[in-house]
Amino acid sequence: MKYKPTILVIVGITGDLSRRKLLPAINHLGQAGEVPEQLQILGVSRSPDIEVKHLITHIEDPSYLLSHTEMFQMDLTQHAEYARLAKYIEEIEERFGAPAQRLFYLSVPPQVSRPIIDLLGASGLAAGDAKLLLEKPFGTDLASATELINHINNHFRPEQVYRIDHFLAKEMAQNLLVVREENILFKRAWNKDFIERIDIVASEQLDIEGRAAFYEQTGALRDFIQNHLLQLAALTLMDAPDPDELQMVPERRLAALKQLRLASVDDPLRAARRGQYEGYREQVGNPASAVETFAAVTLESDDPRWQGVPITLATGKALKEKRSEIRITYRPEGDKGSNELVLRIDPGEGMELHLWAKRPGYDPRIEQRTLRMEYGQNDHLPPAYERVILDAIRSDRSLFVANDEILETWRILDPLQRAWSMPGDDLFFYKPGSDMNELLKDFTAALAG
Ligand code: BG6
Repeated sequence: MKYKPTILVIVGITGDLSRRKLLPAINHLGQAGEVPEQLQILGVSRSPDIEVKHLITHIEDPSYLLSHTEMFQMDLTQHAEYARLAKYIEEIEERFGAPAQRLFYLSVPPQVSRPIIDLLGASGLAAGDAKLLLEKPFGTDLASATELINHINNHFRPEQVYRIDHFLAKEMAQNLLVVREENILFKRAWNKDFIERIDIVASEQLDIEGRAAFYEQTGALRDFIQNHLLQLAALTLMDAPDPDELQMVPERRLAALKQLRLASVDDPLRAARRGQYEGYREQVGNPASAVETFAAVTLESDDPRWQGVPITLATGKALKEKRSEIRITYRPEGDKGSNELVLRIDPGEGMELHLWAKRPGYDPRIEQRTLRMEYGQNDHLPPAYERVILDAIRSDRSLFVANDEILETWRILDPLQRAWSMPGDDLFFYKPGSDMNELLKDFTAALAG
């Protein structure tokens, strides 16, 4: 595919996310010849001592990055510095012999990105088709997200803004629509008449690692449920557009989010559960911390297609295993257990279908067996960040989260956030290495009861 010459300015290039996910993704795309032939990456840094090679020591063959990345030293708080950046960008365009599309990728905390966005606007760098790529968090609640969006709107038109939710770019999230819509046995039964419950669960083995300050302000609800899991819920519940109208996906996700609410709005605490792993308080140096490292919340949709179907979203850190999946439980027939469809998002991307089958041999009884689909070694599953970068370059917005979606997700969680901000005794403690299913057991039983 032929692309316009492109300049990608990375603010926060020395950060963990950029080093772990973004730079390896660009390097791989570059080596595979998937990016524009003329691509210049500018890594912005305040310090003159940082060189590109220091940032990519973990990449096996970083030759693409080494030849396409330059550091640009600047003080991001100074207006005059942006004029220098603009001038440098023009020099690159002269080298290219053509105007380039300009992408500004900000991977910095919101309090840092605000003034940067103002100064990009004030210096004319937001003009035309410049794109702004943003990492979460997108606010911390409904009020702050509204304020943030209004602020960005002062400088960038909504169609210039690309908000990243890398879960949407994971292969199985992409595959969900296809599985749902292209297989008649799922398509016809994708509604409350056949489906009893939906569970979207992301358990992580990792704890908060070195991110104490960030996590103390965030917690599992904001870090994972407000974005990744609600987006997966929207993909699961939405009315699918025709295959040749995939640009409608964000609109359809939004429509699905609009119908969602906590399963018990009058008593948000009944619809949710929060926990903290033992040792967290010592790790963050806050003996009174009430921040949740495990959160589960049950929602319901007012869409007639889904009325009465509980949708549980759950995530936790420091658990037994890493596993993100969407579990669709079908209504049981008679006293037999249900069929279940499990879409494994990560790791072990694939699908499982739990079916009833005859026991082998002369035993007349039936038993549950699993039909499994897994990707093999020859299937290339692009890491989510490769997809994100490529789609931003080619202006495909279907994987990015629109302003209204952000507001809806905060709206859904707002009553719960308020309830959790009050003093309470509902925080439970779990041992690192606990099993997500065990933690969820009592919660789902309590809701049912
Ligand atoms: C990030 C969260 O958005 O997603 C992290 O901030 C989490 O806390 C990460 O670990 C999980 O992403 P992945 O792709 O590694 O499962």
